[in-house]
Amino acid sequence: MNLKRIAVIGAGTMGRGIAQVLAQANREVLLYDADPCARKQGLASIAVRLRQQAASEAAVAALRGIDQLADIGTADMVIEAVPERLDLKLAVFAQLGRGSKPEAILASNTSGLDINALAAAAGRPDKAIGMHFFNPPPIMPLIEVVRATETSDGTFAAIMALAQDLGKTPLAVANSPGFAVNRILFPMINEAIYALAEGVASAEDIDRAMVLGASHPLGPLALADYVGLDVTLDILESFAQRLGTSKYRPCPLLREMVAQGALGRKTGRGFFSYP
Ligand SMILES: NC(=O)c1ccc[n+]([C@@H]2O[C@H](COP(=O)([O-])OP(=O)(O)OC[C@H]3O[C@@H](n4cnc5c(N)ncnc54)[C@H](O)[C@@H]3O)[C@@H](O)[C@H]2O)c1
Repeated sequence: MNLKRIAVIGAGTMGRGIAQVLAQANREVLLYDADPCARKQGLASIAVRLRQQAASEAAVAALRGIDQLADIGTADMVIEAVPERLDLKLAVFAQLGRGSKPEAILASNTSGLDINALAAAAGRPDKAIGMHFFNPPPIMPLIEVVRATETSDGTFAAIMALAQDLGKTPLAVANSPGFAVNRILFPMINEAIYALAEGVASAEDIDRAMVLGASHPLGPLALADYVGLDVTLDILESFAQRLGTSKYRPCPLLREMVAQGALGRKTGRGFFSYP
């Protein structure tokens, strides 16, 4: 399957990174965002980053913005990277199903929502799939590939091949909450917050312990600040609800910090301060 022209929906943190990776791999990229400012800023910042990477001017030129979702009609594939809200993604997938050509593959970069629900919304379940990049996409080598129940073998094979062509390592994981990485990572972050709340060690020392004792490149509390404490809370709550066990119950300290607006790097304050 020739996935030459790929539309990316959502020009935020992930959409920009994914568009950059695609352009570097000689794909034509159509970038759409419901917010025209985000689209413009996205295009500009990707062009800067491509030039910093010494990408060819052809790669820069292969990237263009589209001002309405209806313009995805010529794309061979669409990658959705809008915020992690099921209602929003269902609405976008319904639009993608109507607006893209019938053979186009529809992929979601969701961090753990149900791919079957998105596939059904698109009305084209054999062409729907999860393609979970990690942040930042140009650097992180993994892509989790998630089949819906009805995803065809052809769609799966095309996405595994595309991921490899992008220089990434694709791993097939089941369509279950958080897939593999986040299912393991977020309970660890939650446990680090419980350890802090219970006075096991200071925030600095909890992170140093995991860096020095478990060879993690970044401590769990600094990682939570990077992801955003609001996003961390949402993810844990969705695990608790969907997996039906108290194992994922978010630490009360995390709730308090979110309620106080201490959301991590993006607000300048989380477990650590960011002047
Ligand atoms: N940030 C991360 O670390 C990370 C890592 C892996 C996966 N993800 C997943 O990637 C997805 C996007 O996350 P993000 O961090 O890039 O979010 P973000 O908030 O940075 O960007 C989302 C963009 O989508 C746009 N948008 C909103 N509604 C839209 C619509 N209807 N149509 C088109 N564009 C719309 C917004 O204007 C915004 O620019 C989420 O599903 C998230 O779970 C995020």
